[in-house]
Amino acid sequence: MSIQTARIEAAESGTPVASRFGDVYHPTAGARAQAEHVFLRGCGLPERWRGRSQFTVLETGFGLGNNFLTLLAAWRGDAQRCDRLHVVSIDAHPPTREDLAHWLGAGGTDDADRHALIAQWPPAIAGLHRLQFADGRVTLTLALGDVQVLLPKLALRADAIFMDGFAPAKNPAMWDAAVCKALAERAAPGALLATWCATGQLRRDLADCGFVVEKQPGFGHKREMTVARWPGQRAGAQTQPSVRTHRANAQTTDVIVIGAGLAGAAVAAALARRGLHVAVLERDAEPAARTSSHLAAAFRPAMARGSTPLARLTLAGCLLATQQWPAQAWAPCGALQMEPDEAEGRALLAAQGWPADFARWVEQDDAASLLGLRPAAGGIWFETMGYARPRELVAHWLAQPGVALHVHCAVERVERTPMGWRAIGADGRAQEADQLVLAQGPADLQAAHGLHTLSLSPVRGQCSLIDGLAPQLKAVLAGAGYLLPAQGGITVLGASYEHGEAAEDERESSHQQAQAKAAALWPGFEAAAQGKPRRAWTGIRVVTPDRLPVIGALPDPQAAPLARPGAPQLADMPRLPGAWIANAYGSRGLTYALLGAELITAQMLGEPLPIERDLADAVDPARFAWRNLKRGKTRPFSA
Ligand SMILES: Cc1cc2nc3c(=O)[nH]c(=O)nc-3n(C[C@H](O)[C@H](O)[C@H](O)COP(=O)(O)OP(=O)(O)OC[C@H]3O[C@@H](n4cnc5c(N)ncnc54)[C@H](O)[C@@H]3O)c2cc1C
Ligand SMILES: C[S@@+](CC[C@H](N)C(=O)[O-])C[C@H]1O[C@@H](n2cnc3c(N)ncnc32)[C@H](O)[C@@H]1O
Repeated sequence: MSIQTARIEAAESGTPVASRFGDVYHPTAGARAQAEHVFLRGCGLPERWRGRSQFTVLETGFGLGNNFLTLLAAWRGDAQRCDRLHVVSIDAHPPTREDLAHWLGAGGTDDADRHALIAQWPPAIAGLHRLQFADGRVTLTLALGDVQVLLPKLALRADAIFMDGFAPAKNPAMWDAAVCKALAERAAPGALLATWCATGQLRRDLADCGFVVEKQPGFGHKREMTVARWPGQRAGAQTQPSVRTHRANAQTTDVIVIGAGLAGAAVAAALARRGLHVAVLERDAEPAARTSSHLAAAFRPAMARGSTPLARLTLAGCLLATQQWPAQAWAPCGALQMEPDEAEGRALLAAQGWPADFARWVEQDDAASLLGLRPAAGGIWFETMGYARPRELVAHWLAQPGVALHVHCAVERVERTPMGWRAIGADGRAQEADQLVLAQGPADLQAAHGLHTLSLSPVRGQCSLIDGLAPQLKAVLAGAGYLLPAQGGITVLGASYEHGEAAEDERESSHQQAQAKAAALWPGFEAAAQGKPRRAWTGIRVVTPDRLPVIGALPDPQAAPLARPGAPQLADMPRLPGAWIANAYGSRGLTYALLGAELITAQMLGEPLPIERDLADAVDPARFAWRNLKRGKTRPFSA
């Protein structure tokens, strides 16, 4: 879906005005002063985040980020601040990076955060974008899209809500009853909502949704502002619903992750970054020795004419990865998605509505100069995509303090304990923790440890690695297969697809598949490959019947779904307490690893989800049983 960036001009006073709405971004009396008075004080900050492990702020209208930067400065300046601050802010018309930099100006005490915001500013692409500040202790989830569409899809519990659209008369969509209802549905017990707006209609709409509304003195020339409280009280001082942390005792383990491939290593690091102690149990002598042992692998979003879950998920995964991967593990060299049918390719690109700095059409000649070799056709050029080295990513994630890697540790069985889970190795040794994450890749096909009945299938794949094939290739050339820029002189050609097969032997027929794909991409391939030494790299992908990954809480096959009137809901599917899975990443382990890790972590710790609710549902491990249930199957967990 396309996003139109803001058109901003200066009012006579110098205050920024949005031309589309004919209204100012903030009063002349000052954006930061308004943020302090209306939003921070109105929401009882900084006091209300004190003593909390995490605190979540939801904002309607990110605009130029003045409220966010004021909030961040207050958090930094408060010795008693919460450990982690999550801000989720919606905007349909974000400024361009240049406008943001211009209007945020220079100077001030929060220069570093302002620069960090500008540096991480995402492309104008609809959906959720996650930015990090203060070493990841503060996250900003920018939800780009219309509040009416996107707010109902956000999965979070807000402790504070800032309502900051343009004036209701000029921007009614930001203030109507539907928005109030969606905010109420996302308010945590005891949440406070604040806004400079004091219309009777807004107060009535908020009150109708269940907020307890009051007037307070306004800012600048405004006599009044609105503060509304969501009833109830949050439980306890900490808000980590399902995980105890044992910070006092470094010997104990909060989470066991089985498997040190891309999926498991990323989950372990994400949890450890939140202060949990994570034990990663790996059967091999070293991590990433199986399907994640590639020399290098490609990443770019999948494209579809419509907005499919696969297209949205892979886009979200690629954007998150390129924001957060460590520089040493990947190359933003650019990637060409070759499209032999130009009309078809152009239509596909147009359907995405992406800005040209993210993806644009390139003719064959331009593609040749971008790639360094002449492809068979032009296609879609992704400026910021490329390739990564999975083993380096895994090494980086496992080096996160708080992660303890145990190699030669093949888990044979897992058991429930009164406190959580016990994983027992082949040598009889056991590890215990509150939470368990299965990230076993293809091994889960045989050993699900009796925890699930998911239908996972293998797809064997073989890459051809050819020495000295294409030293001139500067970027990823992709289509049905791919060629990567040389790694130590070796060019990787991907890959064969052999459905239902899980053997790792080298096969000539698989080389032929990979090479045929390379030849279709690069007419010069056959000649260049003549006489060059060749070897194979083989791995086993895991796929589900709907070809989407399984990421999230495992369903409990023994328990009955929650009985409610009406159609069964996915959220009501019973879960195995503290048991999670990150698997079936198919051909897209790079794209999904970090997204999956952030999703599981957010679900485990009650943080805002990094993707929309419907996307989290699309990868929910309980979705297959739920679909069976909806179809009236009496035994929903049997395939
Ligand atoms: C030919 C081919 C080409 C590919 N190309 C790309 C590409 O270009 N881009 C891309 O993004 N993706 C690509 N992929 C996909 C990507 O490689 C996978 O999605 C990813 O590696 C899967 O990671 P994983 O962590 O789920 O599995 P794995 O890497 O297999 O990790 C699972 C780990 O669990 C361990 N384990 C299993 N059972 C146990 C147990 N009982 N106890 C302890 N440890 C256990 C295993 O030893 C292993 O280390 C490709 C795959 C193939 C096969
Ligand atoms: C007053 S400005 C927000 C100022 C901002 N909070 C700040 O601190 O700089 C209002 C914002 O609401 C956004 N907006 C207007 N209509 C919207 C809609 N229907 N959905 C989402 N955002 C919208 C505008 O693009 C604009 O950025």
